[in-house]
Amino acid sequence: MTRSLGEVLADRRICICVGAGGVGKTTTSAAIALGLAARGRRVALVTIDPSRRLAGALALSELSNEPRALSPEHLAPTGLDLRGEVFAMVLDPKRTFDELVTQLAPDEGARERVLSNRIYRELSGAVAGSHEFTAIAKLYELDRTHDYDAIVLDTPPSRNTLDFLRAPERLLQFFDARTLRVLLAPAGIGARLAGRAGAPALALIRHLIGVDLLGEISLFLSAIGSLIGGFRDRASAVASLLQDPATAFVMVSTPESEPVRESIAFASQLRAAGLPLAGLVVNRYHPPVPQRDAATAAALSAAIGEALADLVLAAGERAQVLAARDQTGIQRLEEALGDVPRVLVPLLESGLGELETLGAVARELLP
Ligand SMILES: Nc1ncnc2c1ncn2[C@@H]1O[C@H](COP(=O)(O)OP(=O)(O)OP(=O)(O)O)[C@@H](O)[C@H]1O
Ligand SMILES: [Mg+2]
Repeated sequence: MTRSLGEVLADRRICICVGAGGVGKTTTSAAIALGLAARGRRVALVTIDPSRRLAGALALSELSNEPRALSPEHLAPTGLDLRGEVFAMVLDPKRTFDELVTQLAPDEGARERVLSNRIYRELSGAVAGSHEFTAIAKLYELDRTHDYDAIVLDTPPSRNTLDFLRAPERLLQFFDARTLRVLLAPAGIGARLAGRAGAPALALIRHLIGVDLLGEISLFLSAIGSLIGGFRDRASAVASLLQDPATAFVMVSTPESEPVRESIAFASQLRAAGLPLAGLVVNRYHPPVPQRDAATAAALSAAIGEALADLVLAAGERAQVLAARDQTGIQRLEEALGDVPRVLVPLLESGLGELETLGAVARELLP
């Protein structure tokens, strides 16, 4: 029998919530973090979504790059008995990248040369996948410090979530020995780029960073030269963190057809990358409603009058249509994703407060 999501996550140190836009990734990540804290764990809840949604979901005015402990008083409205703790943070990709350079630079001179370089300052936005890489690099660091015994990552809405998985690989490509040999050849990059021999290098740089900042690149490369070995090692360590058996990918979807289609496509990309799903959360579903037979309709009509009874019955029919639609979506997900732990989280009332909502979702996910 398939294990429950709670049983699967009990063995994992890292949980990465992925899925289409707007399906409830942030809500699910926060609820999983709370659910794990209710089981006594010390949890870091990390988001790379620059919008303030995680802070909002946690009823906080803001979150920063530093882990912030959520007090039991603040979390009281969740109604959860939190034996552990939750620390929440929003990744600032730029700062995290600077921290990485600071760690990897062999000395202060090298660090200053890199940090003050204009290309470097553009880098976190310019290198394809660097934002995602930074997130995973931060996970790696949080994991290595052993300050937390679980880390939950909320990912941003992404059309192409594969970018996220390929980020370490792309950064490795950027620092790849062959690439750099071309760029850092003794003749100097300026000379090479000016001459015909530079054309392939030029095309390569454009390909790798996706923008044309060539004038500054030579300076950047000589500045960053001393860090390359460290970056390479870090990128491969980070890549292997994604493959680690203690890392769990949890797919969040809603039962509507478009998110279902995206989730199925993404799950197959994950599988192809050797990163099987550890769980599926179908969020905001409409539970099945009992069929009304003629006798019930007549009894209802007798009790509250025909006009009101008609309204009630019409509402019941609408609920049935939504529930039937959701069953179709859930079935498609189950068929495509196979035997993974699955949790259905119903559409909750909109009148609940943020923390009440999180508590309710946490109880559904990790009962
Ligand atoms: N089970 C639920 N019942 C009712 N509302 C929900 C439920 N889950 C999430 N929501 C609401 O749906 C909205 C989107 O949720 P959330 O921000 O978690 O999605 P997301 O996948 O993180 O979105 P994005 O892709 O934009 O980051 C929020 O307003 C949230 O409160
Ligand atoms: Mg979100």
